[in-house]
Amino acid sequence: MINVKKLLALVIVGTFSATVANAASNEALIKEGRKVFVTKKLGNCLACHAVQGDPSIPQTGTIGPKLANLDTYPKEYIFNKIWNPNKTVPDSVMPPQGKSHKISKHQIDALVAYLQATTKSK
Ligand code: HEC
Repeated sequence: MINVKKLLALVIVGTFSATVANAASNEALIKEGRKVFVTKKLGNCLACHAVQGDPSIPQTGTIGPKLANLDTYPKEYIFNKIWNPNKTVPDSVMPPQGKSHKISKHQIDALVAYLQATTKSK
């Protein structure tokens, strides 16, 4: 006979570990995004952008706007901006690093995760 209590306990433990695993993989993605942001051979985004909420980033990039409140932007907007800034701003000096394959789609997803987690409106 099925032990309902045991079954329930298994379901609860299973759900809990899945949640913990998801949080851990999101943490990893955020960390990777930060690395892409600051690494010269990768995004080198800090050359042009300061970042709200991350004082460990040198706030010296002033060619682009200070990145702020990106948690209120749709993910796709940020992804597409990084993929090809010229689509929305034809004369943008921001390089199209996704389109030119300097950084991968996965690395752009990581940048989006980092920016949305870091630059919070509240
Ligand atoms: C050469 C300078 C330069 C570099 C390098 C650069 N950007 Fe930009 N970025 C800009 C400028 C200028 C704008 C404003 C014009 C526009 O929207 O295209 C901008 C706009 C943005 C926006 C839109 C902000 C908003 O509030 O609408 C985001 C997000 C962004 N950049 C992220 C990044 C990320 C992530 C990287 C690294 C992969 C990066 N940028 C690299 C110059 C740069």
